[in-house]
Amino acid sequence: MNQTLVVIKPQAVARGLSGKIMARYEEKGLKLAAVKLMQADRDLLAQHYAEHAGKSFYDNLLETMESGPVLAMVLEGADAVTAVRMLNGATDPLKASPGTIRGDFGLEMAHNVVHASDSIQSAQREISLWFPEMAVK
Ligand code: CMP
Repeated sequence: MNQTLVVIKPQAVARGLSGKIMARYEEKGLKLAAVKLMQADRDLLAQHYAEHAGKSFYDNLLETMESGPVLAMVLEGADAVTAVRMLNGATDPLKASPGTIRGDFGLEMAHNVVHASDSIQSAQREISLWFPEMAVK
């Protein structure tokens, strides 16, 4: 059993896709442990995407992520990190298989519908950033 962070990106929230996307995770058997609709600020996004600082797409990524509300959630279940990544599909929606969330709902890398943690270690770090109230005291 592990937990992972998913962030439904602003464009997908604005398109009204949140319910459909959450249903995919729940139908797979993952349990929603926390969820919130929020406006991510630059400080949170800079910490979240620290590994991408300096890359060509970084400024655009932060601008896109702060362009409107996101839906952040913690999902848990048997190997939740891997299960969510399989459901999401490849990072580039054009390379993601049909049937995956990005393959079905995305068209561009910069608007790739969802972010999800890429490892158990990333999940722990990202959950404590987005849901500090869940941190073990
Ligand atoms: P995400 O899972 O949120 O993690 C980093 C994000 O950067 C990624 O999804 C994409 O939205 C974006 N990204 C990664 N690589 C590129 C790229 N080559 N060009 C534009 N955006 C990118």
